[in-house]
Amino acid sequence: MKNIISKKVQDMQPSGIRAFFDLVLGMKEVISLGVGEPDFVTPWQIREAGIYSLEEGFTSYTSNKGLYKLRLSISRDLKNRYGLKYSPEDEILITVGVSEGFDLSLRAIINPGDKVLIPSPGYVSYGPLTELAGGIPIYIDTKSDGFKLTAKLLEKFMHHYPKAIILNYPNNPTGVSYTKKELEKIKQVILKHKLICISDEIYADLTYDFAHTPFATLSGAKDRTIYLSGFSKSYAMTGWRVGFVCGTKEIIAAMTKIHQYTIMCVSITSQMAACEAIQTGRVCVEEMKREYKRRREFMFDNLNRLGLKCIKPDGAFYFFASVKKTGLNALDFAQRLLQEKKVAVVPGTAFGRGFDDYIRISYASSLDNLKEALNRIEVFLTKGGKGG
Ligand SMILES: Cc1ncc(COP(=O)(O)O)c(C=O)c1O
Repeated sequence: MKNIISKKVQDMQPSGIRAFFDLVLGMKEVISLGVGEPDFVTPWQIREAGIYSLEEGFTSYTSNKGLYKLRLSISRDLKNRYGLKYSPEDEILITVGVSEGFDLSLRAIINPGDKVLIPSPGYVSYGPLTELAGGIPIYIDTKSDGFKLTAKLLEKFMHHYPKAIILNYPNNPTGVSYTKKELEKIKQVILKHKLICISDEIYADLTYDFAHTPFATLSGAKDRTIYLSGFSKSYAMTGWRVGFVCGTKEIIAAMTKIHQYTIMCVSITSQMAACEAIQTGRVCVEEMKREYKRRREFMFDNLNRLGLKCIKPDGAFYFFASVKKTGLNALDFAQRLLQEKKVAVVPGTAFGRGFDDYIRISYASSLDNLKEALNRIEVFLTKGGKGG
């Protein structure tokens, strides 16, 4: 039975988040600030649309690209909200979450040995999926710039001759996002060096203090952008598994080729529900966003008061807080906090190398839970920590 597993997969590290949460399973009374998913249930009318579609007998495959009416709704929505034009015929593909869209993007464009720039810290799947696609991830540590990629920092990596860059804003795990002005500067470097920008904008609807600017709306950027978004976070639909990719005809055709052999199509029930989400779900998105924003203010004040220094996130629902002052590294901090006070957070090491001093705290949890978690953390910090 030796050597059954491919070398690539053997070398791949399991997700730091999953590995940590295996510990949480089976523990009682744990408050989890670890998961990256909304604590809200999918709004009722969206669930109802899924149920109704089943009652009506919609149980078949759909077109590989996804239901035309969903692609049309997405196309209209992007045009209305951002002035962004993608043809529903051949520039939009419905995927199994952004996860599949991201995998397809890489597999469609990467030749063996192509370099892909990944700002770090970043979402856990970017590096491993780049490697699976045959590419080489090159990480850009953004720590010294307040976790923001700058044009100057990006320019320093051009000697690697990368083929693509992955952008994710608002960012998981830091919550950092970019104004249009900041994006313009990054764009200039991307266009100058003819990179492809894979832009994961799954948290766009959860941007709190300024308008979200899709990368593809920047002048000259659209043809070099693969725009990824989905329903998981905005509409609290993680379990439905619906995302979408927009890009040039050429890129979408290439991705559709892989998708048709591996996935065929996203579940029709989920696509029907997603149609309803776009058509009537905006009010719910705004309500959930207001609630996240309220929690953000509460957490920001309290985490800093407790000495867990963090920047105020522009979007998403995470804090990337420093535990340096406690004298514990991220893994010890997270493990002890879980064992001693039953609060789960994710060690920063899950999001890239060199983040041993950070933990990711999700505020996709009720205000009551957050309050109780902070009380427990406060006790842990006063009685715990190194030597305590
Ligand atoms: C930045 C980022 N991209 C993609 C995903 C995956 O999303 P989906 O549920 O659409 O596959 C996540 C999920 O946590 C995420 O944080």
